[in-house]
Amino acid sequence: MAKTYVVTSGKGGVGKTTISATLGAALAAKGDKVCLIDADIGLKNLDLTLGLENRVVHTILDVVNGKVTALEALVRHKQMKNLFLLAASQIATKEMLSPDDMRRIVAELYPKFDFIIVDSPAGIERGFRNAVAAADHALVVTTPELPAITDADRVIGLLENAGMAEDDIRLIINRFKPNMVKRGDMLTKDDIQENLAIELVGIIPDSEDVIVATNTGNPITLNGNQEHMIAHVFSNIALRLKGEMISIDKDLIYGGSRGFREFFKRIFGRN
Ligand SMILES: Nc1ncnc2c1ncn2[C@@H]1O[C@H](COP(=O)(O)OP(=O)(O)O)[C@@H](O)[C@H]1O
Ligand SMILES: [Mg+2]
Repeated sequence: MAKTYVVTSGKGGVGKTTISATLGAALAAKGDKVCLIDADIGLKNLDLTLGLENRVVHTILDVVNGKVTALEALVRHKQMKNLFLLAASQIATKEMLSPDDMRRIVAELYPKFDFIIVDSPAGIERGFRNAVAAADHALVVTTPELPAITDADRVIGLLENAGMAEDDIRLIINRFKPNMVKRGDMLTKDDIQENLAIELVGIIPDSEDVIVATNTGNPITLNGNQEHMIAHVFSNIALRLKGEMISIDKDLIYGGSRGFREFFKRIFGRN
């Protein structure tokens, strides 16, 4: 039976789709069978981020309309055979899908996977309710900027109102910039955690390589790659979702990357 996660945020453009794809690939590389669901109807970025846009035949809307089953609509990843995508439809709108549709779709997929990860659209309207409907857990993504943190706080409240337990809501800080923290120009991990009192499950640095990966449709964690610092961070997040207790500062101890270690010492207040 799958663990179901929704990747969500208040503010748009903070990295939900990137994180869904990269984390999905990291989990698949560890041997888990992973299904990614693109609930960002009308935009459908997840297929591009995974390099699967040319393989999509059926979308989530075809499933809702009874044309195919959810399993029939899945696209398998080219290189990673236990990574699957249920694609969104670009021509549809969020109103064409209901929270009940989502629950039925996930109920069909649930027994076949270890992880189901739902990538949600920006905002807190219908699209958010659809994406959250069938998830037992949430990963709330924020960047280290006040507007994103304020919006994340709002989303945490909505998740709790929707009945999600506080322990099932976890935080990912994306696009962290070590140099700005060093200069005192950016919020630290502690600043953020003081505002959002949920468990932190990963801090992902800002990196041009993430943008390149997005643009080429090759997640940094493809085929279990752990060479890249970002891939190493995602691998640890994947292990945490699998229940391993790995402290966040393990993300920072990465071969030879002294600058990064120094940065972490600082944000963890150990110097
Ligand atoms: N850690 C990161 N470092 C650099 N760029 C990133 C990072 N995470 C995401 N991005 C970039 O930010 C942009 C928005 O990311 P995306 O995943 O589409 O956000 P969302 O799904 O929340 O709207 C993309 O161009 C992506 O490549
Ligand atoms: Mg997105």
